[in-house]
Amino acid sequence: MTLEQRIRNPQSAIRNQQEKPFKRRDLLGIRNLTAAEITGILDTAENFREISTREIKKVPTLRGKTVINLFFESSTRTRTSFELAAKRLSADAVNISISSSSVSKGETLLDTALNLDAMAPDCIVVRHSSAGVPHQLAKVSRAAIVNAGDGANEHPTQALLDAMTIREHKKKIKGLSVAILGDILHSRVARSNIHLLTKLGASVRVAGPGTLVPADFAHLITVAEPASKNPQSAIRNPQLQVMPKVEDAIEGADVVMILRIQRERQDSAYFPTLREYAIHYGLTNERLALAKKDAIVLHPGPMNRGIEISSEVADSSRSLILDQVKYGVAVRMAVLYLSTGGTMASS
Ligand code: CP
Repeated sequence: MTLEQRIRNPQSAIRNQQEKPFKRRDLLGIRNLTAAEITGILDTAENFREISTREIKKVPTLRGKTVINLFFESSTRTRTSFELAAKRLSADAVNISISSSSVSKGETLLDTALNLDAMAPDCIVVRHSSAGVPHQLAKVSRAAIVNAGDGANEHPTQALLDAMTIREHKKKIKGLSVAILGDILHSRVARSNIHLLTKLGASVRVAGPGTLVPADFAHLITVAEPASKNPQSAIRNPQLQVMPKVEDAIEGADVVMILRIQRERQDSAYFPTLREYAIHYGLTNERLALAKKDAIVLHPGPMNRGIEISSEVADSSRSLILDQVKYGVAVRMAVLYLSTGGTMASS
């Protein structure tokens, strides 16, 4: 069955598109995806967008499939949009949180995963505060594993929905200058976005307090060495720059992505007070004026209004924060579809 038939949309723009197999089962991060795979996921998501605008927001694409949302950390956007994505594709969706799981009674994460796997789900979407948990589950699970955020490591579907938002408004990603500001050190959103945006040809400048943006950060976000046959061989990402001041990163930017201050991940004081953070690093209209006139503003949420972003900026026409959330459903539909055997659209 073709993607077109599955979506069953007579007006669909995919009529003349080709389809390509998605050769992966799991989506664990952006780092190991190719630019073609990223573009393929985004093109597939474009085809699913329209379903959420219909009066009856449901297609039979994943009828008979089961998706388990296994969330060990709180979430509004990601958990809800994976659930909506599964339901809009007619999959059976089951939500498990730490308070409702037997992990709270002492069961190991591995045993929980093996028990869930024994019930034959097709896909397990997992969020955990520890980096690498989805990778561990992928080793033991027969179901596809999708990373919904693992510690400070990666949040691949967030980067994909950010890219979909940028593509929609800028019509391209290649050649754009993107500023990512704030708590880079603890941010899985920053890591996944740096990998994605630079793979698709954008340049990324990061900035924030020195304690949250180490000067040698660019050496931590490596990319595969182009000429090397050794898959482990990595070099510093040449399209990533650490800037000394947020103003330097914003200057001339096409996209300004502001990150949440993650108070829950900070076990020591990285800056004196939230008020000082807002004064020195918060995205205000004055700072945003340094970006290009048509620059857009993104924030993954949840927002700390008045701290990392002023309400004036958050509520302005340049802010695409709710578009990001909207595209999150389409991206997650595409990811569930592809990780359960669907083919990628290719424009
Ligand atoms: N952006 C994001 O991951 O939001 P939630 O924590 O609400 O899922």
